[in-house]
Amino acid sequence: MCGIVGILGREPVAMRLVEALRRLEYRGYDSAGIAVLEDGTLKRVRAPGKLGQLMACLAERELKSTIGIGHTRWATHGVPTENNAHPHFAGRVAIVHNGIIENFKTLRASLEAEGIRPETDTDTEIVAHLINRRLGQGLSPLDAVQKTLEELEGAFAFVIMFEGEDDLLIGARRGSPLAVGHGEGEMYLGSDAIALAPFTSRVTYLEDGDLVVLTRNSLTLYDEQGRQTVRPLQFTQASALLVDKGNYRHFMAKEIAEQPAVVGHTMAEYLDFNVNRVTLPELPLDLAGLDRITITACGTAYYAGMVAKYWIEQLARIPVDVDVASEFRYREAPLKKGGFALVISQSGETADTLAALRYCKSMGQHVAAVVNVPESTIARESDVILRTYAGPEIGVASTKAFTCQLTVLAAFAIAMARARGTIDGDEETRLVQTMNRLPRLLVQALSQDSHIEEVAKKIAHARDILYLGRGINYPTALEGALKLKEISYIHAEGYAAGELKHGPIALIDEGVPVVVIAPRDGLFDKTVSNMEEVAARGAHIVLITDEEGARDHGQNTFETIAVPMSDPFIAPILYAIPVQLLAYHAAVFLGTDVDQPRNLAKSVTVE
Ligand code: M6R
Repeated sequence: MCGIVGILGREPVAMRLVEALRRLEYRGYDSAGIAVLEDGTLKRVRAPGKLGQLMACLAERELKSTIGIGHTRWATHGVPTENNAHPHFAGRVAIVHNGIIENFKTLRASLEAEGIRPETDTDTEIVAHLINRRLGQGLSPLDAVQKTLEELEGAFAFVIMFEGEDDLLIGARRGSPLAVGHGEGEMYLGSDAIALAPFTSRVTYLEDGDLVVLTRNSLTLYDEQGRQTVRPLQFTQASALLVDKGNYRHFMAKEIAEQPAVVGHTMAEYLDFNVNRVTLPELPLDLAGLDRITITACGTAYYAGMVAKYWIEQLARIPVDVDVASEFRYREAPLKKGGFALVISQSGETADTLAALRYCKSMGQHVAAVVNVPESTIARESDVILRTYAGPEIGVASTKAFTCQLTVLAAFAIAMARARGTIDGDEETRLVQTMNRLPRLLVQALSQDSHIEEVAKKIAHARDILYLGRGINYPTALEGALKLKEISYIHAEGYAAGELKHGPIALIDEGVPVVVIAPRDGLFDKTVSNMEEVAARGAHIVLITDEEGARDHGQNTFETIAVPMSDPFIAPILYAIPVQLLAYHAAVFLGTDVDQPRNLAKSVTVE
């Protein structure tokens, strides 16, 4: 989603704004722009497309200003043209915005009734006009912004600059994230700490409803009620070096390769290998006393939740409801007071997941968040954080965050089962030792990279690709299909292997690739039968199995990818690697924008 930045500096800011925007590229965008106050006058440079195009435009301008705002836009209202790109101007006001103003049509109509003619199709320009109208009524910049915010419905984070105010930026958030960076005689605003990392590690995160007034040497914060308030100063771990791809061609490739290490880091936080026990942070309730668990998340994180349902139900014998957060928030699910809900999110800012969290809290649930960004809104609003240690994930396609989420959820399922007495200490030892083997097995799975690349090239020209899995490997089929479609744009669907005969088998035709995820577990023979059914109808089978499965059933397939032998318990983590690599290599072969696929945003901060 959109990224926003603002700098009140001591040196020229134009290139620094672009540097900060570059660090927000991972969020996904389709146009970009900056505005500065040059000799007291608002000036802007905007361009459709990527930052390279903005840089080309900037090369023709000499901007010396030490105050400015910048934006990467993921279009919501209006196509991604230069005209619709932010910053937007109205009179003395320049503004950048992340979010959606839901009542903008009504507000636009009221402005038009006064004879104001907006130049763009965006909701954001309307906000600039509303603030400017208040300035025209004699209000101060702070009062003008506060009064305008009262009129807005929807989600937003804004950074606002004013002509004639060389030492002032105002930021505000409701729904979308915003952080203040503290420098030496400088102040910054950004959608996240990663954007601000080249300038400072001292950060204040705004709470929902907050408004902040910045000068180069001061910060004044107001809460939702307009009362002056303070928020803690934190030292962020986001590093100025983090956006480096190293020797990899894409962030996604780097992040796939990091999985043995980051899964290992995550395990180290939750598993004590000296005593083979799971150690969770203190929870605000007794796991043994629960009678059901609610899990909500979006996209890949939702698939991690689906895997968790299998683990928790099988090990701890407790029902688990898993919902896509965008549906859950409107389902009005009855939840028993004192119950337990888990939300899962890499970014910790996904609007639907955050809304689901708030719904759960309003229904008296204790909420734990499996989250990768500890400073995020979801982390801050949850009762307990079950943090993943994936490190910053820049590629839009989630890879290492997924396997780290699974790692935490596996540990949680074991702890839950122990608390409820459905497994004994010996079984806990066995499961913890099984997990201990994961980093080594992940390395072995990654060693299949060049073979998987060849397989990917063979299927990359298909129009449709199906993924099949059974039981706990069904979510891996869904995740494999999601990975493929989001970065290669090949149509792909994941199905429960047993469900195929109930309709989807009609899609099978000569040469349609079908990726079958089949570790040698208790359901292996049934999955193989389903594989034979589609093979008999001309499908090109890509079998992803373990060494024994490959030995017994890998001869008559189109291609077979062998994953190291492992306990079925950890198969969802291990088998994530081949499906990620298959999608990655197909996308590279097809020449798509792997790290920033079209239309996608890393962090979906609007509904
Ligand atoms: O940041 P979150 O984990 O809450 O994001 C959820 C989804 O938007 C995300 O997993 C998305 O599906 C990815 N693009 C998948 O690769």
